[in-house]
Amino acid sequence: MQKSNQKFIIISNWKANPSRPKEATKIFDSLKKIKINTKKIFPIICTSNIFFEIVSKKYKGSVFNFGAQNISIDENTEQTGEVLAESLKEYNIKYSIIGHSERRAIGETNEIVSKKIHNALKNKITPIVCIGENERDTHGEFLLFLERQVKETFANLTAHEISKIIIAYEPVWAVGTGSNAISSHDLNQTVLYIKKILVEMFDRKTGLAANIIYGGSVDDENISEVLVQGDVNGVLIGRASVNPSVYAKIIKKVNEI
Ligand code: PGA
Repeated sequence: MQKSNQKFIIISNWKANPSRPKEATKIFDSLKKIKINTKKIFPIICTSNIFFEIVSKKYKGSVFNFGAQNISIDENTEQTGEVLAESLKEYNIKYSIIGHSERRAIGETNEIVSKKIHNALKNKITPIVCIGENERDTHGEFLLFLERQVKETFANLTAHEISKIIIAYEPVWAVGTGSNAISSHDLNQTVLYIKKILVEMFDRKTGLAANIIYGGSVDDENISEVLVQGDVNGVLIGRASVNPSVYAKIIKKVNEI
């Protein structure tokens, strides 16, 4: 349940949408018209890098906070195709998704994700770290997978650093399906399980206070249940976040919680 002093973190993951700056501007202009109660909602939009210029110039000062979808492992400039944390700051990008399943699928390991988290924190970029099992089996193997992923991904961090991270629990089987979100009961149980692992790794206070959000086929139909019954601090939304009318409905529902 939302703690009285805590806002729901609503993160949009635009992925590679849209393909042109003109369309991105159109989406932003529609989003800007939506009434967002910032006492209750903390909106972050993670666009592809090619829109950083638009975001930092045209939408500076709007209610939206901006994030990237990836970050370099360190600040070495010999990294073809990567974007340095230093460059993100130039564009007022203060957040970055790290270890999204679509990047893990093309080879990003827990070790790489861990390095990226350290680099982000060093450069005062808030990491939005994705974790989640590929599939759920009835024997509970997925719990062991999650435990290992959490332990390796958050290795060598201090309790203070963990408190600065947004952990996005995104079961891979629920991502991008448009209909197959996790049940609020299973979500609730899994969040508790992740917190238990963090309690073991760090300490009771840190583990229980971890900032955990959910991602995977969130839309205007399931948002309230995910946030209230699922007992998470927010959501990471893909597909529904680039559709301004669906996004507006989601925001309206969160405003009403
Ligand atoms: P989805 O994507 O909402 O389209 O399932 C979530 C994500 O990939 O972060």
